[in-house]
Amino acid sequence: MKNTRVLLARRPAGLPRESDFRVATAEVREIRNGEMLIENLYLSLDAGFRNWMNEGSGDDVLPAMPLDQPVMGLTLGRVKQSRRSDYREGELLMARLAWEEYSISDGGDFIVRLDASWPYPLSYHLGVLGDTGMSAYFGLTDIGTPQPGETVVISAAGGAVGSVAGQIAKIHGARTVGFAGSNEKCERLRTELGYDAAVHHRSARLAEELRAACPDGIDVYFDNVGGPLLEHVLAHINEGARIPFCGAVTAYNAEEPLPGPSNLFELVLKGARLQGFMTHMQIDRYPEARAALAGWLDAGELRSVEYVHEGVDRAGIGFCHLFEGRNFGKSVVRVRPDDVSDSARS
Ligand SMILES: NC(=O)c1ccc[n+]([C@@H]2O[C@H](COP(=O)([O-])OP(=O)(O)OC[C@H]3O[C@@H](n4cnc5c(N)ncnc54)[C@H](OP(=O)(O)O)[C@@H]3O)[C@@H](O)[C@H]2O)c1
Repeated sequence: MKNTRVLLARRPAGLPRESDFRVATAEVREIRNGEMLIENLYLSLDAGFRNWMNEGSGDDVLPAMPLDQPVMGLTLGRVKQSRRSDYREGELLMARLAWEEYSISDGGDFIVRLDASWPYPLSYHLGVLGDTGMSAYFGLTDIGTPQPGETVVISAAGGAVGSVAGQIAKIHGARTVGFAGSNEKCERLRTELGYDAAVHHRSARLAEELRAACPDGIDVYFDNVGGPLLEHVLAHINEGARIPFCGAVTAYNAEEPLPGPSNLFELVLKGARLQGFMTHMQIDRYPEARAALAGWLDAGELRSVEYVHEGVDRAGIGFCHLFEGRNFGKSVVRVRPDDVSDSARS
């Protein structure tokens, strides 16, 4: 059996480029005792994985990705063959495997079993009901705690985490303001995700436009990108503001350490709180988060927005799109069609 794979051809210098990745084909080898063969159905494209492409990055558990090997990523697949007693053929699994059509696992790849009876397309488990949706949920409900009428600002507001965070803030009755990197995306934030206002983060008049979009100041800033936007937001925070710090996309491609915001003292003046979080540290609360997100989906208060690339060979290009801001919603690669998603959509 042939296995199309996307390899890390070279370590990106700054922004990742299509040429940093190489599509290659290999034979799938026979599995051994203790292994299983997984047919990948979806790949998740996550900005945070950029960190593991750098030489010397990571740690003993998750070291830097090796060159000329399939790029590491979150995957959703089905067990095709198993020589393990704990996994059966046909089971659906999410795992940290690689950008390839077929993966062989010894069961130690951070595997989560999926309940195939859930009535959602499979890609939702990587997006709105997966790590990104739950990041929005934990960041907002535990740290942001938006109150009715408060102003919530979100960076990368049309992205995987941001698109869910904006909708959750709205469900809590807040006024939502999103940052996006093009006029077209700003328009989509308002019309498709219900944001009350949107600000182009590359605008030459950013400070002025942010002030106009937040006439009552900022109560919550859900930060996905860090960098200069945080400094702009700090200039407008209200007393008691909360800042869930989810990620720092601006730093992932930096070749030199970036300067921090010059006005962190605003946190002191306003008695505000900036708090980072890692979603996987809340693993015991995943059922609670999934149930809340699924409830909002079922009630029609939350929608999943996806940016889908067709075919495993598109994974490298799709990953580059994240840093060019070309995605709207959760970026996934559909490796092959599946019956579970087809019946959920019909
Ligand atoms: N803490 C956790 O447990 C956890 C879990 C999952 C993800 N995350 C983090 O959450 C953040 C969002 O991840 P995601 O998967 O949802 O990605 P995403 O938002 O779908 O895609 C990244 C977005 O970042 C924006 N962007 C890129 N370069 C930028 C720049 N220089 N300045 C401002 N914005 C820029 C782009 O949108 P625009 O330019 O159009 O705005 C792009 O669409 C990442 O930092 C990720 O690492 C954290």
